Amino acid sequence: MKAVIPAAGLGTRFLPATKSTPKELLPVINKPVIQYVVEEALEPSGVDEVVIVNSREKPQIESYFKVDGGFEDTLRRRGKQQEADAVREAGSLPVSFVYQDDPRGLGHAVLCAKPVTQDEPFLVLLGDYFVPDRAMCVRMKEVSERYGGASVIAVAPVPADQVSRYGIIAGECVGSFDGSRLSSDEDEGAVWKVTGLVEKPAVEDAPSHLFIVGRYLLTPRIMELLQTQGVGAGGEIQLTDAMQRLLDEEDMYALVVDPDEGCDTGTPAAWAATNARLALRDPEVRPAFLEALGEQALKQLK
Ligand code: UTP
Repeated sequence: MKAVIPAAGLGTRFLPATKSTPKELLPVINKPVIQYVVEEALEPSGVDEVVIVNSREKPQIESYFKVDGGFEDTLRRRGKQQEADAVREAGSLPVSFVYQDDPRGLGHAVLCAKPVTQDEPFLVLLGDYFVPDRAMCVRMKEVSERYGGASVIAVAPVPADQVSRYGIIAGECVGSFDGSRLSSDEDEGAVWKVTGLVEKPAVEDAPSHLFIVGRYLLTPRIMELLQTQGVGAGGEIQLTDAMQRLLDEEDMYALVVDPDEGCDTGTPAAWAATNARLALRDPEVRPAFLEALGEQALKQLK
């Protein structure tokens, strides 16, 4: 299976940083966000090729994934073996690139990967959101297999007062991922049959409190629908609009995941929170981070 990582957006919510650094290359601790995404796609999701949809204005992404033998040699000469290995690893990841010449929306970005995905189902992993334990796409693939190769999206519960910020699903719970009993249809592990997708509904119109997180497993039919998809919200070609049309022809399922399973980095606040979460998990960074946090907390209390 192939994985598509759209990374050609303008990153306006992260300006001015994104004037010169693509949002997808911003570091979380010491690694760019998009490297976490690529690694998640490759292992253990069983993906054999990762294609990044890039913008010509963001050549830094392609440079990052190139081997840089000269730099590696310099590091090795200076006794920095571990650092040289990390540089080599980033340059050795099997990624290819296609280009979206104009950022016309997520749906259009996905369509740009059609020459690579061809007539096969594929995964879409947003380039500014990653799952540290890399297990989400694996479970989505299992759900798809269970339902005859249907499209599957990952969704997570969102507080009622926030539904109007997200794409929300309509449908009904048809069971749980591992056969366990659920106390609520919106519990982690619930599997839904999707009947509709509503972009940013008012709270009273929201058909559920489950929002679409950045992971999709889609059948190839979506590419044909995207070819004829008109512009939608924000004047952009929306993936959710084409998925709504896909629902007229094919079944689609949603897997409810824990909202804390994934890490968003699309805004300064989300990125800062993601860095804090990963700093707390990193044994090398954690002590200094906690100490600095403690000092700051004490200052706030004064
Ligand atoms: P976002 O909507 O979060 O990214 O898209 P954006 O458009 O760059 O962000 P803002 O709203 O201007 O701040 C999610 C992912 O889809 C890619 C983005 O690069 C991001 O990784 N994307 C979005 C594209 O590849 N092309 C597009 O036309 C839009």
